[in-house]
Parts: sequence; C-alpha cells; structure tokens
Amino acid sequence: MAKLPQINQINTSNTTINLSSTWGIRSTYHFLSIVLIFLVISIFYFNQYDGSKPLPPSSSSPPPSKNNDFVKEMVHKCDYFSGKWVFDNVSHPLYKEKECSFMADQLACERYGRKDLNYQYWRWQPNHCDLLRFNATTLLEKLRNKRLMFVGDSLNRNQWISMMCMVESAIPHSPKSMQMNGSLFTYKAIEYNATIEFYWAPLLVESNSDDPINHRVHERIARTQAIEKHARYWTDADFLIFDSYLWWRVPFMKVLWGNFESSDGIYKDVEMLKGYEMTLQTWSDWLEIHVNHSKTQIFWMSMSPTHERSEEWGGASGLNCYNETQPIKKKDYWGSGSDPNMMRLVEASIDNLRKRGLNIQLLNITQLSEYRKDAHLSIYRKQWKPQKEEQLSNPSGYADCFHWCLPGVPDTWNEILYTYIVSSL
Ligand SMILES: *[C@@H]1O[C@H](CO)[C@@H](O)[C@H](O)[C@H]1NC(C)=O
Ligand SMILES: *[C@@H]1O[C@H](CO)[C@@H](O)[C@H](O)[C@H]1NC(C)=O
Ligand SMILES: *[C@@H]1O[C@H](CO)[C@@H](O)[C@H](O)[C@H]1NC(C)=O
Ligand SMILES: *[C@@H]1O[C@H](CO)[C@@H](O)[C@H](O)[C@H]1NC(C)=O
Ligand SMILES: *[C@@H]1O[C@H](CO)[C@@H](O)[C@H](O)[C@H]1NC(C)=O
Ligand SMILES: *[C@@H]1O[C@H](CO)[C@@H](O)[C@H](O)[C@H]1NC(C)=O
Ligand SMILES: *[C@@H]1O[C@H](CO)[C@@H](O)[C@H](O)[C@H]1NC(C)=O
Repeated sequence: MAKLPQINQINTSNTTINLSSTWGIRSTYHFLSIVLIFLVISIFYFNQYDGSKPLPPSSSSPPPSKNNDFVKEMVHKCDYFSGKWVFDNVSHPLYKEKECSFMADQLACERYGRKDLNYQYWRWQPNHCDLLRFNATTLLEKLRNKRLMFVGDSLNRNQWISMMCMVESAIPHSPKSMQMNGSLFTYKAIEYNATIEFYWAPLLVESNSDDPINHRVHERIARTQAIEKHARYWTDADFLIFDSYLWWRVPFMKVLWGNFESSDGIYKDVEMLKGYEMTLQTWSDWLEIHVNHSKTQIFWMSMSPTHERSEEWGGASGLNCYNETQPIKKKDYWGSGSDPNMMRLVEASIDNLRKRGLNIQLLNITQLSEYRKDAHLSIYRKQWKPQKEEQLSNPSGYADCFHWCLPGVPDTWNEILYTYIVSSL
C-alpha cells in the first residue's frame, strides 16, 4: 500500500495522458504515465466481499419488447442468454493479453503465471441464434462523437478494460488518450471522437466506498437516497451500462440519512435487500427525470457470479475456483455466488421503469457466467503484498474467485452488449 499517496495525487489532479502510439520526445513521460495508469487500474482490485446464503433460482419470464424496428426485433426475439460454451480456439480469444496496453496487472492471468490457457478459448453459443461477430471498427463508427459509459463496481471495471482491449486490437496505431478525473476514467479513440468511460460507484448511490482507489472499508455505509453526486456525470452519455452487486453481499447495510460531512446524520442497519431496493428506487427516479429517453440507451448487467465453494459443483469440499480448468457442464448450474432475490429486485425496477416509459435492457449474463468456474483470476494476478508461507501452502485461501481473467468471460458480455448496440438503429 506504500504507493498509494502518490497515486492519489495523480488521481486528484485531473491528469490527461496521451497514449498516442507515435513515441516522440515525451516518450519517457508517456511510459511513466502508462505505468501509473495501470497501477491505478490495478489497485482497484483490492476488495474483499462477503458471501451470503444460497437461494433457489428465479423463474420469471423475459421482459416483453415493444420495439417495432426489424433488426432490433431480431435481437429481442433471440434469447442470447441461454446456450452453451463451445471450445473454439480459432475465433477466440478476441485479443492477446500482452497486446492490450490497458491490461491491468490484476487481470493478466497469463502474465502472472497461469499455465493452462484454455479459459481464453471458449465461445458462448446461444441456443437459437448467433452473436454478431465483434468488429471494433463497426463499434467505433457507432460510437463516433458519442460516449459509452460503464458505471458501477470492479466487475464493471473488469468489463470496461475488456472493452478497451477489444477495441484496441483493431486500432493499435490510432491515437488515443486516457483521462482520470475523480471517479471518472475516460478512454478516447481520438479519430472517432468516441469515448469508452468508467465511473466508479460500487453501490450506485453515495457511500463511504466512493474513493476509486482507497475504498476498502471495514463497515460499508450507503446514503441510499443520494445519487446526484455521481449521477450528474452520467446524464449526457449515449450508452449507460450499470451494475451493482458484490458490495451488497452483506446481511445488513448501514444506511445514512444526512450526509457524511455533518455530525447529526442518522445511521440505521437495514436488511441488505431493503437497502438494495431503496437504492434501485433512487436510481430509477433519477433516470426517469434526468435521462433523455430518445438519446440514451441504458443497459443493466445482471450479477456476475462468484465461485467460492467447489462442493457446489461436485468438487472437493473446502476449495474454491483455485485449480479449476474446465467450465461446469451441468445444465442450468446455479451456485450460491448469485442471489436470485437481488435479481428479482432489479427486474422489478426495470419493469417499473418500462411502465414509466423508459426502456432498460437487462443483459442477463449471470447464468452463462455461472458455468465458468475455470475463468476467475484465482491466484494469477499481481499480489500487492508478498505472500506469507502459510498462504503459499494454501493457495485457494487467497484465490480471487470474483473477478475474471482477460481475455475471458467479460469479453463475452461485451460481445452481447455489442450485438445490442450495433443492432439498434
Ligand atoms: C435471467 O436468467 C435467469 C437464469 O437463466 C432466469 O431465471 C431469469 O428469469 C432471467 N431474467 C430475465 C429478466 O430474463
Ligand atoms: C486448437 O485446439 C486443438 C485441440 O486442442 C489443437 O489441436 C490445435 O492445435 C489448437 N489450435 C490453436 C491455434 O491453438
Ligand atoms: C469490420 O467492419 C468494417 C466496416 O464497418 C469492414 O470494412 C471490415 O471488413 C470488418 N472487418 C471484419 C474482420 O469483418
Ligand atoms: C465529440 O464528442 C462529444 C460527445 O462525446 C460531442 O459533444 C462533441 O461535439 C464531439 N466533437 C465533434 C467535433 O464532433
Ligand atoms: C473533473 O474535473 C473538473 C474540473 O477540472 C471538475 O469540475 C469535475 O467535477 C471533475 N469530475 C469528476 C467526475 O470528478
Ligand atoms: C433528446 O435527444 C434527442 C435526440 O438526440 C434530441 O433531438 C432532443 O433535443 C433531446 N431532448 C432534450 C430535452 O434535450
Ligand atoms: C492443484 O492441481 C495440481 C496439479 O493438478 C495438484 O498438484 C495440486 O495438488 C492441486 N492443488 C489443490 C489444492 O487441489
């Protein structure tokens, strides 16, 4: 953690860093800057999450579509979320780990010693249709003069980095920039005037975990009625992609009425689901009032499952995703790393918004990701502190079974997102 103060300085000073591929006289500066960016991005992956009780999966039906546009209708008719993983080392991975200049040390499994690389070669095959083949040029054309923004927690950041790598592989020599400003990280493909942004808001509403770098707190506190501080940066985006899940995996959330600065705030422990519902309500109300329905397309990424209990998929007890090299084959496998009750609250919010005239596309990636016990970071990432001997002798004890190696599963989420974005006219 010794490096943190330095990074905070960079972070608060609204730095623009030019990542143009023409290495000129300022290349030393560029190099240092790039290293710092990656350090910052990497440090995000520090969090610990709590588990919660397993619950049975939900069985509600997919939302109806009212759109008349033909291509859009095709997209909506196809259920991209039911299907299977197919081993396909011809079309995948979509990019190479070491060729992506945005790769974070916390996601680069190959660089950090993973030997079995099969996790990179699986392609998601929906049952009754195909995903569009990802074409970065087509996406950038679609994003010309536009802003695509991911908003949420470190899983959404995982997906943001994946998206930058996918785009980067098509325009490796084209000028680009990266800007960090508070919670907002902006990648820009300069020739297209297109940005792919990430906004750190792990609970969506205001919380004591809002610092994009120093957010590890012992006790989480959320202001479930307060979203404006973050949301005012979302208003003008053309595509908004939300998620918020893992930080809610506590039995109770401390909710604050009042603000963090004043001393007379009222704190109350609220059952997690209640707190989540209050937050989704605040989020919905904000979207309804502040987002231009005809300009902005909104997506919600359903929860990203964790794989912390190998006995759930028939493995030895006491282990987790560590040492797993194959996807789960069992159809409709669902473990305790996904909470259907939270999913139902999200579905209810989205249904409600639809009744109020705002369409939000739920990208239901939970089930497809459930199969991928093999694709988490496990122990193959930069460790910020040297591992103690007793840790090294029990690797599963420090394996990360939340986030995903890149290239990997978040690329598939982006292939689905791409299919939706490109098919909408
Ligand atoms: C999302 O997928 C899960 C599992 O496949 C399913 O139970 C749920 O109904 C789906 N939700 C929607 C809104 O499609
Ligand atoms: C793809 O996988 C097959 C079967 O494992 C292997 O024989 C082949 O060499 C692989 N091809 C590439 C390009 O990795
Ligand atoms: C990607 O799309 C562009 C036009 O949008 C096209 O010229 C190019 O051939 C496509 N690339 C591939 C690999 O299909
Ligand atoms: C570049 O994109 C932004 C939106 O991100 C837009 O406001 C601006 O007008 C665009 N610039 C040009 C020159 O088109
Ligand atoms: C970015 O910087 C500007 C001023 O440089 C500031 O007004 C704005 O609030 C910052 N945005 C974020 C997301 O912190
Ligand atoms: C909403 O977006 C549409 C399409 O970009 C634009 O024509 C319209 O002026 C916008 N409405 C407002 C109130 O900004
Ligand atoms: C992990 O796999 C390796 C190689 O298959 C094996 O030697 C080791 O015992 C396994 N570790 C655990 C904790 O299962």
